[in-house]
Amino acid sequence: MYSRIAGTGSYLPERIVTNEDLAKTIDTSDAWITSRTGIRQRRVAEPGQMTSDLALVAIERALESAGVDKQEIDLLIVATTTPDNIFPSTACILQDKLGLAGFPAFDVQAVCCGFIYALATADKFVKTGAARCAVVVGAEVLSNLIDWQDRSTCILFGDGAGAVVLRPSDETGILETRLHADGSYRHILKSEARVRQGAIEGSPWLYMEGNAVFKFAVRALADVAEETLAAAGIPKSAVDWLVPHQANLRIIESTARHLGLPMEQVIVTVDRHGNTSAASIPLALDEGVRSGRIRRGQTLMLEGIGGGFAWGAVLLGF
Ligand code: ACO
Repeated sequence: MYSRIAGTGSYLPERIVTNEDLAKTIDTSDAWITSRTGIRQRRVAEPGQMTSDLALVAIERALESAGVDKQEIDLLIVATTTPDNIFPSTACILQDKLGLAGFPAFDVQAVCCGFIYALATADKFVKTGAARCAVVVGAEVLSNLIDWQDRSTCILFGDGAGAVVLRPSDETGILETRLHADGSYRHILKSEARVRQGAIEGSPWLYMEGNAVFKFAVRALADVAEETLAAAGIPKSAVDWLVPHQANLRIIESTARHLGLPMEQVIVTVDRHGNTSAASIPLALDEGVRSGRIRRGQTLMLEGIGGGFAWGAVLLGF
């Protein structure tokens, strides 16, 4: 028994912020941002637009593409770093917004690797028969954690949501999942605000040591891709599509090179979405499917890495 992606959906806020827009308020340029990151524009949520608002639309579109009635959902996992509230979980908020109740709903926090962690978790539920219709969504309003005066970080990120419906299948589906974490790297990428006695302590702005993150990401993503293929007993040449976390075009290109995949077999959205953290992989997946490039019967490598550090991969038959 496999758990198989029955449908995908996504949502991006309407507002587009281009590199030129940013260059009007901070000391940067389209040429600098494009050459270092591959990013040309990003979407930014309206004030008041919450993670659950973005996620709800993505879920509705995924249900529609799967041909599934929402009443069939029996598991909801939300990957997010920007929950609507400290609690209740964004998953519980979404369950209510969907007009549903009863089944388990919870959030997963693994920053940019959140969707991989959530998908790997849902896979266990579906494969063991504990769920028959799982919805996994990655959604972020990361713009809330960005200091828009900090040119070293604000150029990188964007908002969005992507979702999948997972159902049991005898044919094919998730073939292998690999998850890792190493908390000793937590200082190179963080938002360290905490609530203490009702007051917010520490800076909520995203802090990043760009070079250190870059180096760690390149190595970890190459290693986890190899490890996942080896565990599944599948050669690199069998991978039809790489659907990576969209942090930086140079990191994506390096991972593809390692897998021996030409960029024509890599779904790239970072140029238009920026880094949407937990939303980036399901957003890219949905774009690949809706554009007709990703088709049934193909083998996909999904992989991500984020603050923590947490990283992982999911190899699947689509
Ligand atoms: N515009 C113009 N100049 C800039 C900008 C900007 N937006 N940002 C920084 N600079 C300047 C710096 O001040 C520095 O100037 P100096 O030499 O006078 O001090 C110069 O550009 C070079 O800065 P570096 O930080 O060395 O530039 P680098 O080539 O490393 O690129 C970047 C920075 C793009 C952040 C890169 O390190 C990177 O992509 N790192 C990975 C980060 C990432 O992907 N994070 C996503 C979150 S984690 C994840 O999702 C895995």
